[in-house]
Amino acid sequence: MKQLVRNVKIIGTGSYVPENIYTNEYLETILPTSAKWIFDNLGIKERRISGNHETTSDLAWKAGEKAIKNAGLTKDEIDLIIVATATPDRLAPSTACIVQDKLKAYNAVAFDIAAVCSGFLYGMSVASQYIASGVYDNVLVIGADTFSKIIDWTKRDAVFFGDGAGAAVLSHLNVNGGFLAYRLYSDGRGKNNFTIPAGGSEYPASHKTIDEKMHFFQMNGKAVYETGTMVLPKAINQVLADTGLSINDIDLMIPHQPSIKMLQKTAEIIGLPFKKVMTNMDKYANTSGGTIPILLDEVNQSGKIKPGNIILFAAVGSGWTYGAAIIKWA
Ligand SMILES: CC(C)(COP(=O)(O)OP(=O)(O)OC[C@H]1O[C@@H](n2cnc3c(N)ncnc32)[C@H](O)[C@@H]1OP(=O)(O)O)[C@@H](O)C(=O)NCCC(=O)NCCS
Repeated sequence: MKQLVRNVKIIGTGSYVPENIYTNEYLETILPTSAKWIFDNLGIKERRISGNHETTSDLAWKAGEKAIKNAGLTKDEIDLIIVATATPDRLAPSTACIVQDKLKAYNAVAFDIAAVCSGFLYGMSVASQYIASGVYDNVLVIGADTFSKIIDWTKRDAVFFGDGAGAAVLSHLNVNGGFLAYRLYSDGRGKNNFTIPAGGSEYPASHKTIDEKMHFFQMNGKAVYETGTMVLPKAINQVLADTGLSINDIDLMIPHQPSIKMLQKTAEIIGLPFKKVMTNMDKYANTSGGTIPILLDEVNQSGKIKPGNIILFAAVGSGWTYGAAIIKWA
């Protein structure tokens, strides 16, 4: 394993979800779906939906503010803000700059990362490089999405997503532990399996793109399932090999929340008892960039994580993008 110059740890977490709840039973009344099918196959009971004027940056800055407070820092001590999102407030400027302004964290550099459901994992990896190399001390990484804004609310695929944001502050550490390994992967051959086709340079907004509903997400569910259950084990086995750890050494897994079946299959392949796999998709569904940091915050605040615990993160998303990380909680 390559040794980092400075060890990196998570020193604070926070999360925020909108108040409005759409239950499966409500979706049954507006979509061709069934509440039972959604729970049995996806593990989802309900999801949070942002208000008409509530943006991704609104969720993101609230999660970020809580993480800074939980870290015991002031906003002026944040050197870098990374926002991982697939549903930015605007195409320009970055959502991170808007979050910076809402937080009034003007000492920070701010930029977005586009890796969809893997965005928070990518963001933590980028943050770690800056901290390990000594360039920055305290980095706020936020995963935030409002997929409700890009859902076709007449199609059954609407059931998968909810809105939410989570955040972590990463900092340096003088003792052993913290992040032990990362592996990130990308495969652009998957670019059409989960996509939001219009609104960029390929299909700028037009009457045609609106008529053809090209501003909504489009998903090939089968391809997502097949790819996810193949690449998650690959990434996980690689970080285990990098660290010299075995699957039995993992105390908790904090994964992306695509569907309960995808996580059960992944756990079965890697040989991890499912009771070690943390989930909260029953309450929030898939919040894309928000899943891992919201779950991390919940698990952290609940006191379930003990110093020395070995925690596995893993995510797969549109791109394809995927990866895994292992930390020793310090
Ligand atoms: C979506 C998924 C459950 C579909 O299951 P599948 O067996 O692969 O394939 P199908 O689309 O053929 O669906 C099979 C049946 O499930 C039911 N079904 C599928 N989607 C449904 C929905 N949203 N609501 C209710 N029933 C649904 C239908 O009965 C369907 O049969 P039909 O097409 O004859 O109506 C599965 O592919 C999956 O979990 N994919 C992962 C998607 C994911 O995690 N996305 C998150 C993005 S990271």
